[in-house]
Amino acid sequence: MDKIIIEGGNTRLQGEVTIEGAKNAVLPLLAATILPVEGKTVLKNVPILSDVFTMNHVVRGLNIAVDFDEALNQVTVDATGAILDTAPYEYVSQMRASIVVLGPILARNGHAKVSMPGGCTIGSRPIDLHLKGLEAMGASIHQEGGDISATAEKLKGAHFYMDFPSVGATQNLMMAATLAEGTTVLENVAREPEIVDLANLLNKMGARVSGAGTETLTIRGVAELHGAEHNVVQDRIEAGTFMVAAAMTSGNVLIKDAVWEHNRPLISKLREMGVDVREEEAGIRVKSDISKLKPVTVKTLPHPGFPTDMQAQFTALMAVVKGESTMIETVFENRFQHLEEMRRMGLHSEILRDTAMIHGGQRLQGAQVMSTDLRASAALILTGLVAQGQTKVGQLSHLDRGYYQFHEKLAQLGADIRRESED
Ligand code: UD1
Repeated sequence: MDKIIIEGGNTRLQGEVTIEGAKNAVLPLLAATILPVEGKTVLKNVPILSDVFTMNHVVRGLNIAVDFDEALNQVTVDATGAILDTAPYEYVSQMRASIVVLGPILARNGHAKVSMPGGCTIGSRPIDLHLKGLEAMGASIHQEGGDISATAEKLKGAHFYMDFPSVGATQNLMMAATLAEGTTVLENVAREPEIVDLANLLNKMGARVSGAGTETLTIRGVAELHGAEHNVVQDRIEAGTFMVAAAMTSGNVLIKDAVWEHNRPLISKLREMGVDVREEEAGIRVKSDISKLKPVTVKTLPHPGFPTDMQAQFTALMAVVKGESTMIETVFENRFQHLEEMRRMGLHSEILRDTAMIHGGQRLQGAQVMSTDLRASAALILTGLVAQGQTKVGQLSHLDRGYYQFHEKLAQLGADIRRESED
C-alpha cells in the first residue's frame, strides 16, 4: 500500500506548475465516442488517470477499439461497425461516472444495459434524473438484478425540466438526444465548463447542440454522427487545488494555462480572504501571506457557484486562516469526512448537518491519515504541507483517480514530499 509522506511546517510553494486535461471532462467525452458510426474520434490533452483507464475499459467492453497513447496524452476511438449494448459490470462497478454511457449506447443501439452504480461515501447519488429524462424521450426502463435496462427503438425529442442541475444527467441526456427524432429541450441543466466541452465535441461530430453553458440546452436530432478531433479542456479542479496550496503556504505560484473564467467562484473567495490572485498571459498567479488572511463563509452550489469538488481543499485553507470560517455543503450530503481525519492533525471544527464551522489558525501537527475520497486525499496532503512534522497519507487509490503526479508537482514547487510503498 503506497503512502505519501510529507515533512511539513516550513513549506512555501514557489514556481510554476502545469495542469492536465480535466478528468470530469474526459470521462463524458469518452462516452461520446460511442456515438459515431463512422470515422475515428481523437481526444487530445487526455490526463493519465486511473478513472480514464477504467472508462477506456468500459468503452472497449462494447467491442469498440480504444487506443491510449500515453506519451502523446491522446486517445483514439473507432466505434465503426456493430457495438454491444451491455457495459461490462467489472469496470462500471468501479466508477460511478460510467453511468454516462447509458444514453449513448441507447441512442446508438436502441437498447442498453448498464449496472446500477453502487454506494458512494460522499452521498447517496441517485440517478433518477438520468432515467426520467430518457423516459421523457420515449425509453422504457427496467431495473433487474442490479442492472438498468433501457429500450427505445428510436428516441424522440422531448421537453424535460431537471429539478436539480445534475452534471451527469445533463451529459447523459444531451448525448442521447443527439440521435433522437426531432428536437429535445432540456431545462435547468448543469452549466459546468465540462458540459460546454462535451457539447463542443458533439457538434464537431455533426450533432446540433445549442445553449451549452446556459440553463437551457436545445438539441436537434440528426440521423448519424461521425468521428472528430478534440482537445480536452483544462482541469479547473486541479488548477484550483494548486491555487489553494499556494494560498495556504504563503506561496507564489503560477498555475500555467489555468482558465480564469472557469475558476471565478474560487478566485472570488480567495480574494475575499485577502489572497492576491492575478491573471497573467501564461495562466493564473497566486501570491499569499497567510498571516494577513481573513476567515470567510463559503457555500457550495452548482456552477457558476463554488464547486463542491473544491470544498475539501478549501476547508484545509480555512484551517490555517486565523478565525472562524464556515463551509456549507449543499450538493452532497456526506462530504465532510476529511474533517474527521484533519481532526487527527489538530483541526478544531464542528459539523452540524450541511455546515462545518472551522476554528482556523490552531497549531496543526503531522499524523497518519486516510483519504476518504478523491478530493479529501488532496485536502489531507495540503494540510500535511502546513502541519508541523511528518504526515503520512494512505488510501492513495482515491488520489490516483483524479490527480496526475500530484506529489511530484508539489515537490517541484518546493514541498518536502515523497511517495513510498509500505506493506
Ligand atoms: C459530477 C462530477 C463530480 C462533482 C459533481 C457535482 C464527474 C465525473 N463528476 O458528478 O466530481 O462533484 O458533478 O459538481 O463529472 N442527483 C439526483 N438525481 C440524479 C443525479 C444527481 O438527485 O439523477 C443529485 C446527487 O445526489 C447530488 C447532486 O444531484 O446531490 C449533484 O450530482 P451530479 O451533478 O449528478 O454529480 P455527478 O454528475 O455524479
